[in-house]
Amino acid sequence: MKVIVLNASPRKRANTAELCKCVVEGARSNGADVEYINLYSYDFKGCMSCFACHLKKNKDNPLCYWRDDLKEILKKCLEADAIVIGTPIYYGSITSYAQAFLERLLFAADTYIIDDEGNRVSKIKREVKTAMIYTMNVTEEMSHFNGEDQLAIMRGYLTNIFGECESLYAYDTKQFKHYSPYLNNMFDPQLKEKSKEIRFPKDLKRAYELGQRISE
Ligand SMILES: Cc1cc2nc3c(=O)[nH]c(=O)nc-3n(C[C@H](O)[C@H](O)[C@H](O)COP(=O)(O)O)c2cc1C
Repeated sequence: MKVIVLNASPRKRANTAELCKCVVEGARSNGADVEYINLYSYDFKGCMSCFACHLKKNKDNPLCYWRDDLKEILKKCLEADAIVIGTPIYYGSITSYAQAFLERLLFAADTYIIDDEGNRVSKIKREVKTAMIYTMNVTEEMSHFNGEDQLAIMRGYLTNIFGECESLYAYDTKQFKHYSPYLNNMFDPQLKEKSKEIRFPKDLKRAYELGQRISE
């Protein structure tokens, strides 16, 4: 069982990374072979529309042919049994690195062929479990400010191309160690501290359990 966990936050030791690392631990507790990747450590672009992956001669090869740092990472993902992507919410959406990564991953496995039932044919012929982990400043009550519809569209594509896609939402994250140096009257530092102490450990536990589930 090969599991790839990708942190699509620029911060390598913050909320999203901590949750991703719990997924790694959960999957390893099941004996899975897990690789953890910080996407922001690599130099890559989104889909360059070269269409090499959509050539007829590559119909059985779910690969991205664009040569940059992401090529090898995508190859591993397209051979894996489970892929987990952790991303902060930036202006109601996933980060630009998460978007660039998903464009390349999805298009490499996708085709413009429609089957007899009207479904788009995926080059992935086995079940690959996927999951998205979202971290965000807003509380669960304020979550309508974030673009759930937009997030659902990407998850829909992941489901069509790979199979089941689950999501984990971590609300009300603590963004700064100390809030006082920053221009802020939106977030109460004391409430953020409380959320870090009480809510976040529960999210970490849910991430660990997601890691166990996805590697079953
Ligand atoms: C550029 C930028 C835009 C953001 N936009 C949103 C937003 O629209 N909604 C939200 O809830 N949080 C937003 N946040 C907060 C982050 O999503 C949140 O702090 C997240 O947990 C950060 O993840 P990290 O700790 O792994 O870096 C934004 C943060 C940044 C830096």
